[in-house]
Amino acid sequence: MNITLNTLNKLKSEGQKFSCLTAYDSTFAHLISSAGVEVILIGDSLGMVLQGKESTVPVTMDDMIYHTECVRLGNQGSLIMVDLPFMSYATDAQTFENATRLMQAGGHIVKVEGGAWFTNTVSKLTDRGIPVCVHLGLTPQSINKFGGYKVQGRDEETRKTLLKDSIDAEKAGAAMLLYECIPSDLAAEVMASVNIPVIGIGAGPATDAQVLVMHDMLGITPNKVAKFVHNFMPDGDGSIQGAIAAYHHAVKHGDYPTPEHSFE
Ligand code: KIV
Repeated sequence: MNITLNTLNKLKSEGQKFSCLTAYDSTFAHLISSAGVEVILIGDSLGMVLQGKESTVPVTMDDMIYHTECVRLGNQGSLIMVDLPFMSYATDAQTFENATRLMQAGGHIVKVEGGAWFTNTVSKLTDRGIPVCVHLGLTPQSINKFGGYKVQGRDEETRKTLLKDSIDAEKAGAAMLLYECIPSDLAAEVMASVNIPVIGIGAGPATDAQVLVMHDMLGITPNKVAKFVHNFMPDGDGSIQGAIAAYHHAVKHGDYPTPEHSFE
């Protein structure tokens, strides 16, 4: 059965969690979708985990198209979400052209690192048939503005902004939200104010879904990993398939993340 946005909305309405993992090629897309993981994210994290770059900033549209085509060919029915890379959505005209390319390569929904400035464009994309997931909190494409990978939403002003941006994104027609690296209590507070599915990474247990970068989940990232990462390799039967199944099971049953993976 193919997972659609309707499936995710139904899971949310039934209080059931869903899982999301990054994939960048056909083999892993096959493994991940066959394990029942509802959403595959072709994240611009590929710049770091595949290309060895320091951040996601150098990732290009051609990189994203190439990996989307690879994932599409291995996918066994998961919903495919694709990142619009750095500065590929700076103007409406650019956004329409680049989002169209990602959808034509095999995406079912595009993800943007947006806030208030992007709200009108969310409406325009949605009206034209391109669903949008709005990524808030720590948005890695703005790493040079933040000055590091820091937890966001620790002070009253940024908490209010996150709440407002979430509500406005939903009103504008966003199909999903993704929160990265925010305190758990902030995620819980915002969850009470929005009706669309919310995916979290380093946002605590309250969100409808979790996402991890596949390499982190398999424990093969060479650099120091963030507090929210859990290596699922020892939790399965020792195989990659076992680790993916353990991750999916833990997210679906609310066993991951725990307070030790969350920011207070
Ligand atoms: O690029 C990516 O993999 C992401 C996740 C970390 C959410 O955006």
